[in-house]
Amino acid sequence: MQRLQGKVAIITGGAGGIGEATAARFVSEGTKVLLVDIDAGALSQVAGRLDAGSVATCVADVSSAEDVQRYVAEAIDRFGRLHTIFSNVGTEGAIAPITDYPLEAFDKVMAANVRGVRRQGDRRRAGIVATKNSARTVAKSTLHI
Ligand SMILES: NC(=O)c1ccc[n+]([C@@H]2O[C@H](COP(=O)([O-])OP(=O)(O)OC[C@H]3O[C@@H](n4cnc5c(N)ncnc54)[C@H](O)[C@@H]3O)[C@@H](O)[C@H]2O)c1
Repeated sequence: MQRLQGKVAIITGGAGGIGEATAARFVSEGTKVLLVDIDAGALSQVAGRLDAGSVATCVADVSSAEDVQRYVAEAIDRFGRLHTIFSNVGTEGAIAPITDYPLEAFDKVMAANVRGVRRQGDRRRAGIVATKNSARTVAKSTLHI
């Protein structure tokens, strides 16, 4: 029995290792998935390995408010509703002591790993699950749109 039949999920960082593995599992359990990633080439490769009828893709940057609105709208347009956002993007940036950390890299990491998760919180009617990085959070879900 498929435990997530009829559900719809967005997976950010969908072109990465954990994003792809999660998408494969969600699809096998009956979920329709919108894969979101900034890397268009890797995203289409991942989509090509998954069931075409269950997966769509959206090239977007989770640190952009406009992009977040766009991919949430796209998931709903495409699949009719939205239950879960798996907020999985993570970027390491530089590895350096905070006192020496390049500011541009620091801003990029904070924008993707922290602001990116927070922005998705504006979509309060979908459950949000974040992979463990610097901004892990689990938000309450009402599961209806
Ligand atoms: N792999 C591990 O062992 C591990 C351990 C602990 C936590 N994590 C966390 O799990 C998450 C996924 O890990 P992974 O190993 O699959 O990573 P990964 O590097 O394989 O995938 C991350 C994906 O995020 C995408 N991405 C980066 N910045 C983006 C942005 N601004 N907007 C949209 N997409 C963007 C990248 O293009 C990439 O496809 C990350 O948050 C990571 O920090 C991973």
